[in-house]
Amino acid sequence: MKAIIPAAGLGTRFLPVTKEQPKEMLPVVGKPVIQYVVEEAVAAGVDDILMITGRGKRAIEDHFDRSVELEDLLERSGATDKLRQVRNIPDLANVFYVRQGRPRGLGHAVLCGAPHTLDEPFFVLLGDVIVPGNHCLPRLQEIHKKYGSSVIAVEPVEQQYVSRYGVIAGHEVEPGVWKVTDLVEKPPANEAPSNLAIFGRYLLTPRVMEILPHIEAGRGNEIQLTDALRELILREDLYAVTLDCKGYDTGNILSWLETNVALALETEEFGDQLRESLERLLG
Ligand code: G1P
Repeated sequence: MKAIIPAAGLGTRFLPVTKEQPKEMLPVVGKPVIQYVVEEAVAAGVDDILMITGRGKRAIEDHFDRSVELEDLLERSGATDKLRQVRNIPDLANVFYVRQGRPRGLGHAVLCGAPHTLDEPFFVLLGDVIVPGNHCLPRLQEIHKKYGSSVIAVEPVEQQYVSRYGVIAGHEVEPGVWKVTDLVEKPPANEAPSNLAIFGRYLLTPRVMEILPHIEAGRGNEIQLTDALRELILREDLYAVTLDCKGYDTGNILSWLETNVALALETEEFGDQLRESLERLLG
């Protein structure tokens, strides 16, 4: 299956660090966020990835390319582990790139992938969202096979945070699976139809690509994928599944910090020492 990874956003919630640097290249425990995303897609059997990039995103392309000088240096100095690490990255998948000329929103970014996905269902993985565990995409696939429709991942969030996300309304048809009856992009907390937030992973049918060109700018004056899905449910069923693990939105400073701490605590290399440091800091 193919996957689209939108990575064209300007990262305005992360300035000034993202002034010239893609937010998708920020490190999370020593690895850029987008590498986690690509590895998750590959683990789900995706072998063809289309990244939607734009001006100022060259570092992403360079990261998934060979680094001949660096490889030569590591080879000469006998740093075989590091060499293997560096060489594995371009071998992960076939990565293709298309540039979104102007940032016009997530819906527009996904639409830029239409000539690539053609008439097949495809995944969308947001380039700044990490979903650990590799269970999410197989779960989307399972529900897609069962109901033959588009499926999106959702996560319950505290009511005060719903305005940061696309939010669904629906009824639960089996544990953790919702038939979607409405979607709203970043509603005010008191108008949100539920606390189930869309969480950066989608398996979409090609019908979405027919709808997107007709979607007008919505929230934030951007063409929203959520608005296209709202149209989609008038024509096809759409299901949502709750993640069975915590996903991490790394697009703002606080949640990026939390992602780093949470994932570092789980590593053998840093876990114990970091726990001690945190205990010391918290006194
Ligand atoms: C996007 C989507 C939103 C979703 C969020 C997190 O918003 O438009 O529906 O809930 O990602 O996956 P963004 O964070 O890019 O503004």
